[in-house]
Amino acid sequence: MESQLEFENKVAMVTGGSMGIGSAVSKLLAKRGARVLIVDRAQVEGLETTRMINSTGGVAAFVKADVSNLEDCQAAVQKALDFFGRLDIVSNNAGIQRYGTVESTPEKEWDEVMNINLKSVFYVCKSAIPHLKKTKGTIVNMTSVQAFATQRGVAAYTTSKHALIGLTKSMAIDYAYDGIRVNCVAPGTVDTPMLQYAASLDPNPESVYEACKNMHPLGRIANPDEIAEVVAFLASERASFVTGACYLVDGGLLLPIGGEPKTSKD
Ligand SMILES: NC(=O)c1ccc[n+]([C@@H]2O[C@H](COP(=O)([O-])OP(=O)(O)OC[C@H]3O[C@@H](n4cnc5c(N)ncnc54)[C@H](O)[C@@H]3O)[C@@H](O)[C@H]2O)c1
Repeated sequence: MESQLEFENKVAMVTGGSMGIGSAVSKLLAKRGARVLIVDRAQVEGLETTRMINSTGGVAAFVKADVSNLEDCQAAVQKALDFFGRLDIVSNNAGIQRYGTVESTPEKEWDEVMNINLKSVFYVCKSAIPHLKKTKGTIVNMTSVQAFATQRGVAAYTTSKHALIGLTKSMAIDYAYDGIRVNCVAPGTVDTPMLQYAASLDPNPESVYEACKNMHPLGRIANPDEIAEVVAFLASERASFVTGACYLVDGGLLLPIGGEPKTSKD
């Protein structure tokens, strides 16, 4: 039971916490005792995640914010302090997926991807770090397998996720002496609204799910809870000597030489 309360007296701020991976992170941290501020632009889903946490014995609040806007990020950090009095954990998950090559990606879309997937982390951390210094807090960023390998037509997303590893390492070294640990998690395919959106772009969405399953040597895609578990580990004292790391949580997706898909057990 002790491990279930490892975040007692801790306050977590979770961006992208309304849906998908961020929602799973919010629920898990709250279940283990953290008071959680969900920071997201999706209000209906955010309030629903908040209600679910509060109705199952946890403590959560929601703030509507666009994390690609510095003032919104500053206000969200202030809300965490106003509501809960301190800040210990920042989990950055807000992100979008867009498709295109350098030629086909409009500049506006390139900027949108960079601003939401990358600059938001700069904004959130810029706002949060002065307070994390007081608590010797920790930051966990959500990157992707696409920080290591890529596919055709995902130029902006891949670039943003590669850069997020650089930002994670930079912050890890800059704030190590303040006792702040900074890490990131790189998932393979996860069953979330983001994947549903990607599948909906295909005339046969089911075939996208099948292809994703077959790409992973474990033969399936991840449940968001499996990613949240690793975020919780990195945010906890159990990871007290881990900083500047990127944990792959990809069901073996990056293992095969030549990107060989799984076709059978043999
Ligand atoms: N689903 C996957 O297969 C997968 C794989 C690897 C990495 N990731 C990464 O994990 C993170 C979460 O992905 P997900 O699959 O849960 O996505 P999702 O679309 O299901 O959820 C993303 C959340 O971020 C919020 N958000 C987006 N832009 C925002 C903004 N400007 N301001 C505030 N909130 C914003 C959305 O409202 C949503 O609640 C993303 O960074 C994504 O790139 C996802």
